Amino acid sequence: MTDHPKYLVTGGAGFIGSHLVDALLARGGPVVVLDDLSTGRLQNLAGARERGNLQFVHGSVLDEPLVDKLVGECDRVVHLAAAVGVKLIVEQPLRSFTINTKGTETVIEAAYRHGRHVTLASTSEIYGKNSSGPLTEMSDRVLGSPSVPRWSYSTAKAVDEILAELYRREYGLRATVVRFFNTVGPRQSPAYGMVIPRFARQAVLGEPLTVYGTGRQSRCFLHVTDVVAALVSLLDRPEAEGETFNIGSDEEISILDLAERIIACANSTSTVHRVSYTDAYGPGFEDMERRVPDTTKLRALTGWQPRRDLGDILVDAVADARGEAPQQAPVAVPGRPDEGHAGGADGRAVAAGPCPV
Ligand SMILES: NC(=O)c1ccc[n+]([C@@H]2O[C@H](COP(=O)([O-])OP(=O)(O)OC[C@H]3O[C@@H](n4cnc5c(N)ncnc54)[C@H](O)[C@@H]3O)[C@@H](O)[C@H]2O)c1
Repeated sequence: MTDHPKYLVTGGAGFIGSHLVDALLARGGPVVVLDDLSTGRLQNLAGARERGNLQFVHGSVLDEPLVDKLVGECDRVVHLAAAVGVKLIVEQPLRSFTINTKGTETVIEAAYRHGRHVTLASTSEIYGKNSSGPLTEMSDRVLGSPSVPRWSYSTAKAVDEILAELYRREYGLRATVVRFFNTVGPRQSPAYGMVIPRFARQAVLGEPLTVYGTGRQSRCFLHVTDVVAALVSLLDRPEAEGETFNIGSDEEISILDLAERIIACANSTSTVHRVSYTDAYGPGFEDMERRVPDTTKLRALTGWQPRRDLGDILVDAVADARGEAPQQAPVAVPGRPDEGHAGGADGRAVAAGPCPV
C-alpha cells in the first residue's frame, strides 16, 4: 500500500460519505464511491469530481460480484451505505433491513476475502432507549419490540457490529466500528425533517417551531466536518482496529432550548408550538430522554476535539434557511420514496422529539 491508500467508500454520495470523500481526496488518495443514489445525490460529489482521482460506481452493496471486484481493487473500505430515514424504513422495512444486514455482510465478506481493513458505520440508535448518559461504547442497549421499525434499524446495525466482531475474532478480519450520534451540516437532506434545519426554516418564515413531546428531551449535535475529522483520525490509527468508537458532540441541549436559541439566532418572531408524540407519530411512539455520547475513547486515542460548537451550527443553519448558502436540489432517481416526512432513524428524522441517531 502507498502513502495514499485507495479507498472504497460505500454510500459515498450521501451526507456523511460525500464529506469523507472530500477529505480523503484532499489528502491525495484515490477514492472509489459505490452508491445506488437511493438517498445520496450526485451533486454532493460535484466538488470531488472536479478534483479528480474519484471513480463513481452506480450500484448496490447487495451486488456481491460488484462489491467483491471493487473491494479487491481498493486498499481500504469505509462502509457507510445504509437505508436510513424513517420513511424508507417504515415504507420499505424488509428492503431496509436487508440492505442494512445483507449489504454489510457482503462488504464484510469481500473485505475478509481480500484481506482489506473495513470501517463500519454504526449508530447511537444502538443504545435504543437507554437515556442514561453519557453513553460509553459498553453501555447497555435498551430496546422496544422488534416490530417497531426504529428498533429493527437499531437491531440491523447491531447485527453488523456483531458480524464484524465475529469475523475479526474467528477469521482475523481487520475492522473498526464507528457509532455516529446526531450529525448536522451541509448536504443533509432537509427532506427527513431533521430538527435543526426544520426549526431554522420555521424561524426564518416566522412560523411556529413544532416541538414534539415536552421538549425537555435532550440531544447533542456535531458538525459533519468534525465527524469526518474524527473518522479520518481513526483511519490513520492502527490501534483503532478491532475497536468501536462513539463519534458525537457532548454539548447537550433540550429541544425546547434549541428552539429558543434558533428563534433568537434568526431574530425571529416565531413562537414554540408543542405537539404530543401521539399526535405526531401515532400511539405507542417510543423515544429517549437523553442521548449524550461519551467520546473519551476517541479523544484518548486520537486527540480529536470538535472545532465547531452548537452556536456555529445554528448560524450556518439559519443562513442556509435564508438561502444564503447554496442549496442542493435532490437528484431525481426513479423509485426514491416521496420526501417530506418528519420523523426517522438516523439523523434524518426526528425533529423535535425523537432524534433517532
Ligand atoms: N447522519 C447521521 O446523523 C447518522 C447517525 C448515525 C449513523 N449514521 C450512519 O452513517 C451512514 C451514512 O449516513 P448519512 O447520514 O450520510 O445518510 P445518507 O442517506 O446521506 O447516506 C447513505 C448513502 O448510502 C447510499 N445507499 C443506500 N443504500 C445503498 C445500497 N444498497 N447500495 C449502495 N448505496 C446505498 C445512499 O444512496 C446514500 O448515499 C449510514 O450508515 C447511517 O446509518 C448516520
